[in-house]
Amino acid sequence: MNEMTRVGSDQNYSEEARKALSREPRLFIGGEWVESTHGATLPVIDPSTGREVGRFVDASDADVDRAVAAARQAFDDGRWTDLPPIVRERMIHKLADLIERHADEFAELEAIDNGKPKSIAAKADIPAAIGMLRYMAGWTTKLGGETMAPMSAPNGAFHAYVRREPAGVAAQIVPWNFPLLMAVLKISPALAAGCTLVLKPAEQTSVTALRLADLINEAGFPAGVVNIITGNGHTAGDRLVRHPDVDKVAFTGSTEIGKLINKNATDSLKRVTLELGGKSPVVVLPDVDVAATAGGAAGAIFFNAGQVCVAGSRIYAHRDIFDKLIEGVAEAAKGWTVGPSLSPESRMGPLVSDEQHRRVLDYIDQGKQAGASIVTGGDVPFDQGYYVNPTIMVDVKPDMSVVREEIFGPVVVAQRFDDLDEVAREANDTCYGLAASVWTRDISAMHRLCAKLKAGTVWGNCHMMIDPALPFGGFKQSGLGREQARQGVEAYTELKSVIIAL
Ligand code: NAI
Ligand code: MG
Repeated sequence: MNEMTRVGSDQNYSEEARKALSREPRLFIGGEWVESTHGATLPVIDPSTGREVGRFVDASDADVDRAVAAARQAFDDGRWTDLPPIVRERMIHKLADLIERHADEFAELEAIDNGKPKSIAAKADIPAAIGMLRYMAGWTTKLGGETMAPMSAPNGAFHAYVRREPAGVAAQIVPWNFPLLMAVLKISPALAAGCTLVLKPAEQTSVTALRLADLINEAGFPAGVVNIITGNGHTAGDRLVRHPDVDKVAFTGSTEIGKLINKNATDSLKRVTLELGGKSPVVVLPDVDVAATAGGAAGAIFFNAGQVCVAGSRIYAHRDIFDKLIEGVAEAAKGWTVGPSLSPESRMGPLVSDEQHRRVLDYIDQGKQAGASIVTGGDVPFDQGYYVNPTIMVDVKPDMSVVREEIFGPVVVAQRFDDLDEVAREANDTCYGLAASVWTRDISAMHRLCAKLKAGTVWGNCHMMIDPALPFGGFKQSGLGREQARQGVEAYTELKSVIIAL
């Protein structure tokens, strides 16, 4: 282990951040800040220091019921759905404007709560959240149905058309890796489609969702359209998923909990979309510019300390360039400076929690015990906070847990291949199918691999390019349905065929 230094003990919070962290634990229900029925709270932990810096509500069953009732009433009386679409579109844009106005505060809060560097939150998370709102706002005025002629009736005998209607009350449960972005990714299509909703952020990172609630009120959304409750997954989250007054469940998180949610939502046949885990391959052919590709492969795993569903956690490099590429990734890893989230030098912060820290270190141990070699990293740099150094593992075998399971940390495993069929087979040898990237200048090999790889997104010569205009989701056990794009907003709608005899 490196010589350890104490860091992060003096994260210097701004006045605004202190104010947000010291707010009374409350839930956002029916447009108001309400107290929990049972008064239980959970801590806000700064992962850069491991210290508690605030408290928020751990919602009770009665709290969840109250939030669903508010959303139900707001949907059923049409206070949102029946507004002119342009009024709804403008309100969603207003929310984007307000986040933009408070962008610096959001970036800081995200850094404090999640551990990601503030500079990265400011460049990635917050602008992406604003972009998502603006993209989805546009769909508010563009959704529609179609007219169809029944095939079995003479022309003109019937007037038949298909209406697209909002699905109803949505329960939305999000994880901790991109807290504000995930919250906005969920609420924006629901609002565009005319749904009302209850959002539950992750218990590790609830600060920015609560701040978002302030802005939702300021933007003028009718009371009860957006309700935000905080609390544990197995209690508050579970209650929400099973609630009979919820019509649609949208979840991002682990595959394990995704499967459970899918089961629990079945009793009342709720509409379900799931964005789950991944073990995404990065496939590097021998013709690439090795230095540039190594930088790309490093970014694919070390961005957000590897806590990304599409993280490029398995490198498959052609035998001819394997050694040079791995040397390059190790060199690039040095540029991912590990440090506290509010330090301007940091490019990689701590992991989100003590639990995630232990999990990732445990995987590294499992890899070592199974015979993997560590090229770089594998250790922790500081004696406080939840840091792990960027880690590259080689000499791995396809059946090792580090190759098969989602680690969700800055840990990549690298393997050699000889031909395209072989690498396609190995890359697809996983229960996941979220994303993949292919690196080559050979256009024919590129397209052949893009077709063979079983993943919801395949990138060429880049990784993690995610855009609201393109559908996003997983093959296999990486998910159910698609978010973003037209498909993402349509997932919050029902179709109604209307057939009228004339
Ligand atoms: P998780 O899937 O347990 O938590 C995600 C969200 O689901 C949180 O809001 C949580 O409160 C909620 N939740 C948990 N149990 C629930 C239940 N029974 N009913 C309803 N909601 C529930 O993920 P966790 O435990 O935080 O992380 C474990 C692993 O999951 C990570 O190491 C990583 O591998 C994976 N993960 C994947 C993510 C992705 O984006 N694909 C995001 C977060 C975690
Ligand atoms: Mg969990």
